[in-house]
Amino acid sequence: MPVDHRHRRSDSYEDDDKSSLDGHDYTLVVNTRVRIYTLLTVGTIICYMYYGYMSSGFRGYQYSTFGTFSERPQEPIEDAPPLTSVATTVTEPDVTSAVSTTLTAAPTLDASTYWLANMKHQGVAPYNGDSEYKVFRDVTEFGAKGDGKTDDSDAINAAISAGARCGENCDSSTITPALVYFPPGRYLLSKPIVALYYTQLVGNPLDMPELVALNDFKGIAVIDTDPYGAFGKNWYINQNNFFRAIRNFVIDLTNMDPSEGTGIHHQVAQATSIYNVVFKMNDSPNTKQRGIFMDNGSGGFLSTLKFYGGEIGAYFGNQQFTTINLEFHNCKTAIYVNWDWVWLLKSIKIYNSNIGIDITSGAPDKLGVGSVILLDSYIENTHIGIKTSRNPDSKPPAGGTLVLQNLKISGVGVTVSGWNDREIFGGNEEGRNTTIPFWGHGKGYSDALPRGQDINVVADETVDAIPSVLKDSEGKILERSRPLYRHIPHHRFVSVRDHGAVGDGKTDDTAAIQEIISANGNTQPGHEKKIIFFDYGVYRVTSSIYVPPNTYIVGEMWSVIMSSGSSFNDVKNPQPVFKVGNAGEEGTVQISDMLFQTQGPAAGAILMEWNIRSPTGQNVSGMWDVHFRVGGSHSTNLQPNKCRKKPNEENHASIDDDCISAFMLLHIGKTGSLMMENMWLWTSDHDLDAEPNHDQISLYTGRGLLCESEQGPVWMYGHAVEHNVLYNYQLVNTKNIFMGVIQTETPYFQSNPRAREPFSPIPEYYDPNFEAACGAADTDPEKIKQCEKSWGLRILNSTDVFTFGAGLYSFFDNWSTDCIETRTCQHTMVTIEGEAKSDKFPDRRNIWLMGLNTIGTENIASWMKEGEKEELMSVRADDGNKNGYADTIGLLLV
Ligand SMILES: *[C@@H]1O[C@H](CO)[C@@H](O)[C@H](O)[C@H]1NC(C)=O
Ligand SMILES: *[C@@H]1O[C@H](CO)[C@@H](O)[C@H](O)[C@H]1NC(C)=O
Ligand SMILES: *[C@@H]1O[C@H](CO)[C@@H](O)[C@H](O)[C@H]1NC(C)=O
Ligand SMILES: *[C@@H]1O[C@H](CO)[C@@H](O)[C@H](O)[C@H]1NC(C)=O
Ligand SMILES: *[C@@H]1O[C@H](CO)[C@@H](O)[C@H](O)[C@H]1NC(C)=O
Repeated sequence: MPVDHRHRRSDSYEDDDKSSLDGHDYTLVVNTRVRIYTLLTVGTIICYMYYGYMSSGFRGYQYSTFGTFSERPQEPIEDAPPLTSVATTVTEPDVTSAVSTTLTAAPTLDASTYWLANMKHQGVAPYNGDSEYKVFRDVTEFGAKGDGKTDDSDAINAAISAGARCGENCDSSTITPALVYFPPGRYLLSKPIVALYYTQLVGNPLDMPELVALNDFKGIAVIDTDPYGAFGKNWYINQNNFFRAIRNFVIDLTNMDPSEGTGIHHQVAQATSIYNVVFKMNDSPNTKQRGIFMDNGSGGFLSTLKFYGGEIGAYFGNQQFTTINLEFHNCKTAIYVNWDWVWLLKSIKIYNSNIGIDITSGAPDKLGVGSVILLDSYIENTHIGIKTSRNPDSKPPAGGTLVLQNLKISGVGVTVSGWNDREIFGGNEEGRNTTIPFWGHGKGYSDALPRGQDINVVADETVDAIPSVLKDSEGKILERSRPLYRHIPHHRFVSVRDHGAVGDGKTDDTAAIQEIISANGNTQPGHEKKIIFFDYGVYRVTSSIYVPPNTYIVGEMWSVIMSSGSSFNDVKNPQPVFKVGNAGEEGTVQISDMLFQTQGPAAGAILMEWNIRSPTGQNVSGMWDVHFRVGGSHSTNLQPNKCRKKPNEENHASIDDDCISAFMLLHIGKTGSLMMENMWLWTSDHDLDAEPNHDQISLYTGRGLLCESEQGPVWMYGHAVEHNVLYNYQLVNTKNIFMGVIQTETPYFQSNPRAREPFSPIPEYYDPNFEAACGAADTDPEKIKQCEKSWGLRILNSTDVFTFGAGLYSFFDNWSTDCIETRTCQHTMVTIEGEAKSDKFPDRRNIWLMGLNTIGTENIASWMKEGEKEELMSVRADDGNKNGYADTIGLLLV
């Protein structure tokens, strides 16, 4: 978003949070918090507490103390095997074994046969004026040698910047895509590789290229995603720095002086990723090196990274972020979080560090870290596992909210250390493994605790509360990384452009695409299974494309499918652009590196309907790095010339039908089940292409993501849905849903018009009826305005839903941000309704919303209390939950 208001911290947050607690018993809240802290921090005694809804009916956090340990809590385990020394060789994870087996075993390949390098490079950027423009660039064709002797900096930058790309003073562009390929080699560098907007930097995953900083290297980092220009002005606004990928590299800083050196300066927003990268750093005591330096942004996703040495492996600062499968060896501090609103750290492995995760930034009066969730992780031989400085007096009140789930420690001095190095949670000895099932610092709410209470307790049901269908064989939440198809030779890929699809943004490619997908989805017996490759292009389709089970699709950069025409413009007869399976069909479908958009108007377009059920086991169907971008880019017809924002219009009748951009973004049907990783489902609020101002626009997409999957499982990792009229996420009659981190924004134009416009509620889609819900005649009109806002997350009659981090924001009313400070942009952000009870816990829904953050809303969430008398419960943002710019709770459990 173009306005520059998403500062890391508001300068003006209420320090004591007492300002607007009208009618609330503030003293009680504080006393409770102090009391529990006292229990946990005085002396060295750790109270091992337990709350028991199983045995005594659900009582929220009315825990009972069942044991006191004068030593550190430990679970006895069998004798440990001797510690092996840490391997420093680079082992790339085999993320494609599942696909290889489905496609019949492939031989281990020589790096020179890597499929992507061997495809015909015939990507076309249709809206680019330069007819010679190349999407695919091999750095060696621009003079890079990769021979370990030549300084390749200029040649690599030439490969990236060839063809009038989007650099300084451009801000954004979707018409200059580049996939920059690095063959195996040792590339020496004396200055940063500048990753321009809309660039993927891709190394050969069979023999990862090494980017080696020379000892006289000068610059902010080996790869820079957002250079600082004159007067410290970034090239790209950090919150708008979309669409980038970096994968399959080794970055080596060990030739540099240990007092300096950074691997990647990663200052990015949505639809960005770093995947499969190894950082090698100096590990002497005086090292100042860092693997990643992230100052700010609105991201984002990182996974499968290894860090060796360095002062700080990963230095993080961003609004919201998802990070999976990061491994740290011998870093002084593995992860330093400088600031955030919400961060998911999942499957983190930390070995031999002084500090595992440091979240003390700004202590004690301006805690920079809003919330962190550490899930399924392991810390070994490390002095301090997590260093926090949250305490009863620290500010803001919700700062430093922390949720740990399924953390294993071994040889950790102190698991959680607090303000003044006080031991909050002890450690264990080398060679022993102790698992901490669940522990938190932050406020928790439930039926029994309508005013919230500190979740500063150890509970062992949380892990068990998660149904096994969401987990892998080791009991961790299942992950499946993006497919690289490393071991699959290029003749097993079939190019759509070779088979008649044109991708010029004009030709109707419906028939050609349907034909190639039908032929390579359910492959005939005796035919070789193939992966469908969309050479870069914009493929216009005018009716639904059916994707059968067992279809594999991969794009080049983000190849675009654009719906177009009248069959997608009937609001009474909405049609999916891609229909993935028919209801009841089972099989594996994988889609990666694709982008979906509409050409407006498109009142009847559902960008994707997903019906395929993943087979049981770990070969899940899914989407990786697939983005939906509605409007705000070249040739979508949903651009400022037609749909410029109109805040001055007084009445609502002026919605232009031509600015109706979609019916729904993603519909997961009743039988659907899938894994989603790094997806951004965006109805745009401003134009990425229209020069010079990238003006703000008002587009009307009815619904964001509707999930009706009756059984799940559905996983959403690093997922965002923004700016849709009725809701961003809606879960209906569903169960077994993992979400972490999810992020939303309410449309900036609301409440002018309000959420009831222009879409009438359709009962078959379980649409919210705002007119009925908000508009009683005696209601204050101001309240109606705040109530008629798109839901961030609406959960209807659903069970077993787990968010591990959510950032749900309402920054505007009628294009003005004045409402943020007063929390009057929106009445309530999350709603939980309906009767359904969990199969596991017959008396409750088993919905755990952890690390829940909102902005600009009076109530963070509301739900119907169980029991004889239904009662609407609400978590108020100002109920001690202020967290600088955002408001945060650790847990809502219903
Ligand atoms: C402790 O857990 C780690 C990580 O799962 C494992 O590698 C190690 O073998 C375990 N050690 C013992 C003593 O069981
Ligand atoms: C981003 O972070 C840098 C470095 O900390 C800081 O100088 C800059 O002001 C920040 N920008 C914004 C918009 O917050
Ligand atoms: C994936 O599917 C293949 C073929 O159906 C099967 O052999 C393999 O065990 C599955 N792998 C996992 C991890 O479920
Ligand atoms: C929206 O804001 C504009 C000022 O930007 C104002 O003129 C207009 O009256 C407002 N409309 C409504 C419905 O609040
Ligand atoms: C609620 O979900 C249950 C299944 O958990 C289903 O049987 C029931 O019909 C649903 N209720 C409504 C009103 O849809």
